[in-house]
Amino acid sequence: MEFFQIVSYALLFLLLFFLIRLVYPFIYLNYFVRSQNLQEKYDATWALITGSSSGLGLILAERLAKQKINLLLLSNDLESLRSQCLTLRKNYPAIKVESMCIDMSQPAETFIQSIEGELQKKPISLLFNNVGYVPVFNFASSEWNQVESHINCTVTNTIQLTHTVVNSLYKRKGIGAIVFTSSIMSFIPAPYSALYSSSKSYISAFAQSLAIETKKYNIDVCVVQPGPISKTNFLKATGIDNFEKDPFVRLLYSFSQTPKQIINLMLNSIGKFTVVDSSPLWGLVRAFQLVCGENIILYILTKTSTLWGLGRSLKKKSN
Ligand SMILES: NC(=O)c1ccc[n+]([C@@H]2O[C@H](COP(=O)([O-])OP(=O)(O)OC[C@H]3O[C@@H](n4cnc5c(N)ncnc54)[C@H](OP(=O)(O)O)[C@@H]3O)[C@@H](O)[C@H]2O)c1
Repeated sequence: MEFFQIVSYALLFLLLFFLIRLVYPFIYLNYFVRSQNLQEKYDATWALITGSSSGLGLILAERLAKQKINLLLLSNDLESLRSQCLTLRKNYPAIKVESMCIDMSQPAETFIQSIEGELQKKPISLLFNNVGYVPVFNFASSEWNQVESHINCTVTNTIQLTHTVVNSLYKRKGIGAIVFTSSIMSFIPAPYSALYSSSKSYISAFAQSLAIETKKYNIDVCVVQPGPISKTNFLKATGIDNFEKDPFVRLLYSFSQTPKQIINLMLNSIGKFTVVDSSPLWGLVRAFQLVCGENIILYILTKTSTLWGLGRSLKKKSN
């Protein structure tokens, strides 16, 4: 075989491998992962879910209740928490459902002791770090408290909560799982929400390292990185009027998955995979990044970021 022929075959093989790699996680995770019962797998009696009052958290609570796992629900809206607890207690009388109304954007000192108190009463073996929101502002002109609130909620307090639960599992030699809801945005720059993508990057990187450390204690770590998800309060929580009608957002959300699909993937991946990429956009983004490289993408975003999405909405708002 001639040298050039060998090189062409090698390149063709690499291309084929790359294409399979791009579609395989999406097809495998969405269609072939078997369902599992976490109550049996981890002998779980209690689960703690942050951001439980709407969207993904709401469906997650329902699915864990179905598996007969007692629930400690944490979010910031007393009314939604109350009605969620009532519904779950009515539909699943065999389990205990308790809630804590906590603003996670506040410093951890305001609530961590009450969580530690709960951990002494309840053997929590499943923690779902699901809380998250998109902070929308121009970083240069923002107030520090806007920045601090988001970092408190999605990074500092999430990590401290994880530390508290992992530490208690370690001390009582319990088995369990720590699950993070990250995002496809963990590897995509988000102009005018720099904190969102960076907090998700932090969570994804943290989860991967933690997974290696805690495996020997039989504590599984899983980080789910979804793309756009329909039917949640996520877009409304940006505070931008009619944001869901923005042409770019509509295009993005035409690739969306439902909360049920994401929760199925999440629950069925725990203990089998550490990183779960589910979005049909995943392959597209990764291929684009590999072909163009970061700097070309950043150049394009810098030139166009006020023409679409958050940049366009902020510009309209300030005019
Ligand atoms: N929807 C998407 O397109 C999408 C895509 C990728 C990743 N994600 C991630 O998925 C996770 C769930 O989002 P979702 O789509 O289900 O949105 P969602 O419906 O807005 O749910 C967010 C949850 O977080 C809670 N929360 C927000 N700020 C809080 C605070 N300061 N203290 C305590 N709880 C707070 C909310 O509770 P209250 O409102 O009651 O305070 C709510 O329960 C987030 O981590 C998000 O980043 C979403």
